[in-house]
Amino acid sequence: MRKPKLFLHIFFLVVVLLLGSSSIFLSPITIGAGAVPDHITLTWADDPQTTQTITWRTAADEVGGQVQYAEAVNERLFPERAITITAGVEALYTNIGDMATHSATLTGLKPETRYVYRVGTPNSWSESRYFVTAPSVPKAFSFLVFGDSQSVNYGVWGTTLHTAYQANPNAAFFANVGDLVDVGQDYAQWNAWFSGAQGVVDTIPVMPVTGNHESYTPQRQFSMPVLFTAQLKLPLNGPDNLKGQVYSFDYGNVHFVMLDSQEGEQHAFVPDMLERQKVWLERDLQTTRKKWKIGFIHRPLYNNKDGEGDVNIRGTFGPIFDKYHVDLVFTGHDHAYARTYPLYGGMITDSSQKGTVYVAAGRSGTKTYRNLLAKDWHEFFYNPQDEPNYLTVEVEQTALVVKAFKQSGALIDSWVISK
Ligand SMILES: [Fe+2]
Repeated sequence: MRKPKLFLHIFFLVVVLLLGSSSIFLSPITIGAGAVPDHITLTWADDPQTTQTITWRTAADEVGGQVQYAEAVNERLFPERAITITAGVEALYTNIGDMATHSATLTGLKPETRYVYRVGTPNSWSESRYFVTAPSVPKAFSFLVFGDSQSVNYGVWGTTLHTAYQANPNAAFFANVGDLVDVGQDYAQWNAWFSGAQGVVDTIPVMPVTGNHESYTPQRQFSMPVLFTAQLKLPLNGPDNLKGQVYSFDYGNVHFVMLDSQEGEQHAFVPDMLERQKVWLERDLQTTRKKWKIGFIHRPLYNNKDGEGDVNIRGTFGPIFDKYHVDLVFTGHDHAYARTYPLYGGMITDSSQKGTVYVAAGRSGTKTYRNLLAKDWHEFFYNPQDEPNYLTVEVEQTALVVKAFKQSGALIDSWVISK
């Protein structure tokens, strides 16, 4: 009779240790959805100067969700004089139960303005939070980049995100290079990811790309990244059948293009996904007049392991990045922090005026690889086995300043592209 009891005690101890102990920043991981909004998430589905998209989760039977918001300067009148809008609601079907996703895009906002907001219903409002719209004239700004956050313990991801944000409280937004979670259709992992991200993702927007792991089911079959697109409401300006996971947006003087490298995983659903993106990317880059162009794609064009890597991805996108001179491309998948020399046509050039610098963003979660390898194209290479890492990008009038930091704050690398 004693053994089952002892087993239960040990089981609960292990669960508590796994879920709760890893970060001083984190609220407890929410297992199920309730009436009170959680997973409150900012993204930009539209113009960062005048809109703000806010998404959250509740139990499946909660309807009539609203957003109340006001300029923060009038905060003493909040919520009495707030604007109230009704959110859209969608069923969220997951492997651990049905839930609801609520989302609204606030429009007509003033640029470069701080707003206070809360979400929910008159019976169950969230606490108030804040966001800031983008300036209408390009100014210097910064953003954060996170490598793969897939983890056995998402508290580690939460600590990387929170320490990065605390060190850079003026960051306009953050980007993830894909593989946010290890099993994209396992909702328990999203619960843990959002729990780690609360306190930041409800204050500055996340603008992520998908990785191969967003296309895995718990049975290790391939799928479209449906839980990613259901919860992260991104611009719908991408190619047909890839909307919400392939997109572009502008912030300040930068045009961002966000691509999907999961040809193998998504082939059965969108057989021509690379061709579609190629046509779309060419048209997208033709029309932008922004000074800087920055791309994000999960699988690297120039890899950080033995062998040539994904030559299909390189062959599809490399010539377009060359033709329109994309300054920087951030990648994931290998969990290395590395940057190439400026590359043009696959060859090292001596100038970032001509070539593109490809940056492997490292890892923000627990997963590491021992078999990473510096290649001829690398100007800097580092395998972050000791600690997770994050990147900061400062966009100035004539320079992009990129820095890589360990989770604990130690500088790994700092470099500049001037134009
Ligand atoms: Fe990956």
